[in-house]
Amino acid sequence: MSELRTALPEIKTEILPGPKAKAIIERRKEAMPGAIKCNYPIVINRGEGAMVEDVDGNIFLDWVGGVGVLNAGYSQPEMIQAVKDQSEKYFHAMMNIMTHENYITLAEMMNEFMPVRGEKKKTMFANSGAEADENAVKIAKSYTKRPNIIVFSGAFHGRTALTMAMTSKKAYAYGMGPMPDGVYRAEFPYLYRAPKGFTEEEAIDYYVKRLEAVFEECSAPDYVAAIVVEPVQGEGGFVPAPIEWVKAVRGICDKYGILLVADEVQSGWGRSGKMFVSDYWKEAGCAPDIIATAKSIAAGMPLSAVTARAEIMDGVTPGTIGGTFCGNAVACASAIETIKFIKKNDLCARALEIGKKVEAFYKGLAEKYPVVGDVRGIGAMMGTEFVKDLKTKEPYPELVTKLVQTTARKGLIIESAGTYNNVVRFLCPLVVTDEQLEAGFKIMEESLKECLES
Ligand SMILES: Cc1ncc(COP(=O)(O)O)c(C=O)c1O
Repeated sequence: MSELRTALPEIKTEILPGPKAKAIIERRKEAMPGAIKCNYPIVINRGEGAMVEDVDGNIFLDWVGGVGVLNAGYSQPEMIQAVKDQSEKYFHAMMNIMTHENYITLAEMMNEFMPVRGEKKKTMFANSGAEADENAVKIAKSYTKRPNIIVFSGAFHGRTALTMAMTSKKAYAYGMGPMPDGVYRAEFPYLYRAPKGFTEEEAIDYYVKRLEAVFEECSAPDYVAAIVVEPVQGEGGFVPAPIEWVKAVRGICDKYGILLVADEVQSGWGRSGKMFVSDYWKEAGCAPDIIATAKSIAAGMPLSAVTARAEIMDGVTPGTIGGTFCGNAVACASAIETIKFIKKNDLCARALEIGKKVEAFYKGLAEKYPVVGDVRGIGAMMGTEFVKDLKTKEPYPELVTKLVQTTARKGLIIESAGTYNNVVRFLCPLVVTDEQLEAGFKIMEESLKECLES
């Protein structure tokens, strides 16, 4: 098999999907619900680093990385070996019945560096981002003995009943009501779309007041267990929470005894240039109380985690958290090696380098094409917002939809995001080579030109 890790994108079939992919996609339509949407013509055969080969031999550069799951890249030998070794011993040991060491080792590792408030920390594992968020809320409720939570416009927290209620975009919960009660929403500080004429400082002040209004309009603060924030909103359009706003939210939490929960499901594991965006928060004196994380934790094995100081974790009523597969032994084995891999290869530093290149590329595009409204993000979690008019900022989702299809045909996988579906997100594996990155920039610019001309 040829080396895929260092390959460049190359489409070999006349059209996409190629014949083998087409046949499997046809079977997909028959075998599984269309509600699990996919508009890409790609059926994967293998993945290495930042590259994917499909079943017809086409080679794609992946700027989506399983939506933030593959910060460490596809198929790293260290993680493969760890999974093989663990699989030969046992797949599963249920933590309510017997203890398996990988769970404990991984929790110990995470308790060393997770940037939550407090010295002594504890970590529990689950299987998905939604489960991590839901458990974080349960932990906050159990510890504070309060019923309500506050979430934000633009938020995405998952598809379980509680996380659907927490998620802002109602397309994700259409026809699924009634929703769990006690979930109240404030406005997220989306600075690009802040009220007209506001300076950044005035906008932050406005958003802090909008948050405080929830205490008047929805729930008294002493009934609020947690405020849940995505440090960089993912599905909401790669909108970073400004640090001055986070400081104010931390102050509000402290004033009323509310726990600050960071949902780092998409933003975690080196993507931001630090292990977590919460590391930046901690440096600024506003560390969260609880962090929920998932996605890149185990390089593609299903695992998620919640970390908080021991006092909070020890305040949870026994029996109310956990589950059969939570902290699976094979997934934990992969996570242990993934953390070592991220550290050994200094993927945080690489994220900063990549982020600068991506930002420079999109800012260059902005000078040539008057459709790039905003380029933003932290580290290599970058979003580019496309608009029809730079002044009115009218969203341009049709362009982004076309771009996604056009770049795929040329061998680059990208994905949209945002309340208006007009943001292109960048979540490429952090092991991408410079040459591959440049090849992606070339495809992106060619595709943009083509879409604007057609
Ligand atoms: C910030 C955030 N939280 C939670 C989730 C839900 O994760 P999962 O799909 O693993 O349940 C996602 C998924 O995209 C996410 O981006």
